[in-house]
Amino acid sequence: MKLRIAILAGDGIGPEVTHEAVNILKAVAEFGGHDFQFREALLGGVAITAEGTPIPQSTIDICLDSDAVLLGAVGDNKFNHLSPDKRPESGLLQIRQVLGGFANLRPSIAYPALAENSPLRPEVTKGADILFVRELLGGLYFGAPRWWNKETNEAINTMRYTKAEVERVAHVAFKLAQGRRKKLTSVDKANVLEVSQLWRATVDELKSQYPDVTVEHQLVDSMAMHLMNIPRNFDVVLTENLFGDILSDESGVITGSLGMLPSATIGGKVNLYEPVHGSAPDIAGQGKANPLGAILTAAMVLRHSAGLEREAQAIEAAVAHVLEAGHRTADIARGNTAANVTTTQMGKLVHQALTETLDRHDSMHAV
Ligand code: IPM
Ligand code: MN
Repeated sequence: MKLRIAILAGDGIGPEVTHEAVNILKAVAEFGGHDFQFREALLGGVAITAEGTPIPQSTIDICLDSDAVLLGAVGDNKFNHLSPDKRPESGLLQIRQVLGGFANLRPSIAYPALAENSPLRPEVTKGADILFVRELLGGLYFGAPRWWNKETNEAINTMRYTKAEVERVAHVAFKLAQGRRKKLTSVDKANVLEVSQLWRATVDELKSQYPDVTVEHQLVDSMAMHLMNIPRNFDVVLTENLFGDILSDESGVITGSLGMLPSATIGGKVNLYEPVHGSAPDIAGQGKANPLGAILTAAMVLRHSAGLEREAQAIEAAVAHVLEAGHRTADIARGNTAANVTTTQMGKLVHQALTETLDRHDSMHAV
């Protein structure tokens, strides 16, 4: 099959980890005889430096003309003095809007090989397998009015949702729950916020269309606690934009490192794929970054934009395999193990494990 992928490597560790993810995609293409085409474009701090804007028009054009967009990370301390609408992050928010994907899928699972990495006890994280569905185009991130008046020392952001916006993301979450353990936890702050009351009522209204899915509502504050207490109780977790941003970072604790978490944003014109971690400027360019979040993000590209489920699973299995073999970048090297591989080495190890898995499948099909 043919797949045109726009690559927005971005800032900090973005280029290093994206390079490894692209290598994995190339291996899958080569193995299956697929035609994957990659086109690079600038987004974030690198775009500000080169073109004076975090999101050049040429980047928008390339992304809209692609079947999938794979992003590394954006953010650079150099630009901290700029107002939010001029910073690298604004490029990310704008590309999300342009591409139109409203459902951001963020899986968070406990790998047995990383059980000692989490500050949570292994018996707490054991079996945790959560899929966050974070609404990505509404809420405080995009609501108007928004401003900071430096004369009056007053600032405002607006949390706003329409029923239709809640419905479309809730449908995605319900459907995903149907394909999993059939439990949906909807997160809100309905004891304080009208927006959350609308959210809760809308989710409740859809329940009858998905009779096989059990729905529970959790207030975001107690959810933050339950997530750490009994993570295995959760299956699909539906949240508005900011709550999902916060809870998905928190869920990195379950896996043991934010560097492990992938994401896919679906529902718009072109799907957008990005690891959950940021640009980590403190370790950029040193070969210390964990490429597994980006590699698992590549698996999501194959699952959601190419229909290559078997290949996606093969990548996920290859990642689990290298972890079991004890290979560790610094972020997952707590406990008894030390960092023993660089970013590139980790990528190569996954590549090797992947080729072996694909070869094995192939010979199995041959007999
Ligand atoms: C994320 C990031 C972004 C967000 C930032 C970089 C704008 O934290 O993808 O979780 O808040 O959505
Ligand atoms: Mn975040």
